[in-house]
Amino acid sequence: MRDYYSPVAEFYEMVAARQAASSGPALAPVLAGVDSTSGPVVEIGAGTGRVTEIIAAALPSARIVAVEPSTAMRAVLTSRVATDDTLRQRVTVVDAAAPDLPLPATICAAVVFGVAGHLDEPARIRLWRRLRSRLAPGGVVVVELMGVRRPREIPPALSIRDSIGRHDYEWWVAGSPAGGDLMRFTTTWRVYRAGQLIREVSDSYDWHTIDSDQLTRESGMVSRPAAAVTGAGAPEVVVLAAA
Ligand SMILES: C[S@@+](CC[C@H](N)C(=O)[O-])C[C@H]1O[C@@H](n2cnc3c(N)ncnc32)[C@H](O)[C@@H]1O
Repeated sequence: MRDYYSPVAEFYEMVAARQAASSGPALAPVLAGVDSTSGPVVEIGAGTGRVTEIIAAALPSARIVAVEPSTAMRAVLTSRVATDDTLRQRVTVVDAAAPDLPLPATICAAVVFGVAGHLDEPARIRLWRRLRSRLAPGGVVVVELMGVRRPREIPPALSIRDSIGRHDYEWWVAGSPAGGDLMRFTTTWRVYRAGQLIREVSDSYDWHTIDSDQLTRESGMVSRPAAAVTGAGAPEVVVLAAA
């Protein structure tokens, strides 16, 4: 598995803050209905841990297994967990990758946000089958699909502008079809000081496009949209449960 994220991990908190703000309102009420005594929550591709915080707040007694394969992203995740007394008691950080990550015998929920497209269809099918076989009664798999349903040309667009200290940051994102279901995204971080460009960090990653219908079919589970997700540009959050 290629680690797309380490080269840009130093900037990722700015992306994750936006992701958490847009997807958190969908995730929290779904998890609130889960029986967290039946097993831990497994979060797959936990990134820097912003969604981990949302899971922990929604299920205050749950144990959480936060799986993250990128070394630099995992460093931020571990720092976030280690410096919060509550998270430290409850969150176990694991270096592994889907679909063959180690799974507890029973899980009350799995959270897969912004990750599914990093897997091709056979790998996803294997992941859903493995998660389904571990789900406790009433358990759910919550998947965020990132909103790119089919390959298409996406011209370079300024996706984030933010400031930290005396530096201004811009995140530019572009994408092109790369054959079959695949998109190749190119992202560029530009760092400015007093209007002068002082750094530029580019990277690219591949993303297998998938929509909620395909997700439902390949998962072998029943699905529903997360209720809080509405409106143009809202993230697509799908709740899967055993049929
Ligand atoms: C778009 S980020 C999302 C991070 C986090 N879930 C969030 O929403 O803020 C995708 C994350 O998935 C991780 N990832 C990529 N491939 C993975 C795989 N096969 N298994 C688990 N995680 C993976 C990346 O390292 C990265 O941290």
